[in-house]
Amino acid sequence: MENQVVVVTGASRGIGLSIARRFGQAGANVVICGRSEETIQNVAEVLVNEGIQAKAKAADISNQSDADALVQFALDQFSRIDVLVNNAGITQDTLLLRMKDEDWSNVIQTNLTGTFYSTKAATRQMVRQRSGRIINISSIVGVTGNAGQANYAASKAGIIGFTKSVAKEIASRGVTANVIAPGFITTDMTSQLSESTQKQMLELIPLGRLGNPEDISETAFFLASSGAGYITGQVIHVNGGMAMSG
Ligand SMILES: NC(=O)c1ccc[n+]([C@@H]2O[C@H](COP(=O)([O-])OP(=O)(O)OC[C@H]3O[C@@H](n4cnc5c(N)ncnc54)[C@H](OP(=O)(O)O)[C@@H]3O)[C@@H](O)[C@H]2O)c1
Repeated sequence: MENQVVVVTGASRGIGLSIARRFGQAGANVVICGRSEETIQNVAEVLVNEGIQAKAKAADISNQSDADALVQFALDQFSRIDVLVNNAGITQDTLLLRMKDEDWSNVIQTNLTGTFYSTKAATRQMVRQRSGRIINISSIVGVTGNAGQANYAASKAGIIGFTKSVAKEIASRGVTANVIAPGFITTDMTSQLSESTQKQMLELIPLGRLGNPEDISETAFFLASSGAGYITGQVIHVNGGMAMSG
């Protein structure tokens, strides 16, 4: 990973931060984004103090001009992009009959349309380079569905169809595109769930523990490695066995 350029969206905390750190520890130049300028610059400072080559740009990837500016920033800094990890995501959970238009559109706009914007911008460069890895973070619920998450599950299922289509379009240019579908990972996103819900989840996990961000960042790191060069258009489930799909 030495000197590779890795862009991670939504890297101010949780899974995205863990992914940025993993790549950075292996010698990559990492470009991180989040919506708050102050937060993302502080996170970059923490990474730099750990000896990681990190650059930060505030960007709301649900906005096309921000997504384009993020990719341009990475190119201005490092002149290439080897890996794009589309990790930024939100939830706005509620049952279908209570779901407002904005609950639906906010989640689709960030999780799915944001992934489209940054993938399109980075792919232009990767196709030119004739190399690159796109790694999109979906979710187990994009495959299984989940009560209270129709908007989120639709966005995450959309990411899977999107990634497979893009993978077919760009394979001949030496660029791969894959999906990681995490199960239940302990981050700010899941800490909002009640203790009893977390306990119920745990009972559904054959490996007997909740996931941690490092479980996902190790998988992302593998998908970007030379050993994963023949893997494209795949959904890699990282869920402790919570759901087993063929
Ligand atoms: N935790 C889980 O169990 C789990 C399971 C399956 C899938 N996932 C997926 O994994 C990804 C990371 O989740 P997480 O648990 O680490 O969540 P998290 O702790 O809530 O972190 C989400 C990250 O995304 C950023 N973000 C949100 N909206 C953004 C936007 N419009 N533009 C740019 N950045 C944005 C946030 O930064 P700011 O708030 O500073 O903008 C933050 O850095 C998400 O796509 C999530 O759906 C998580």
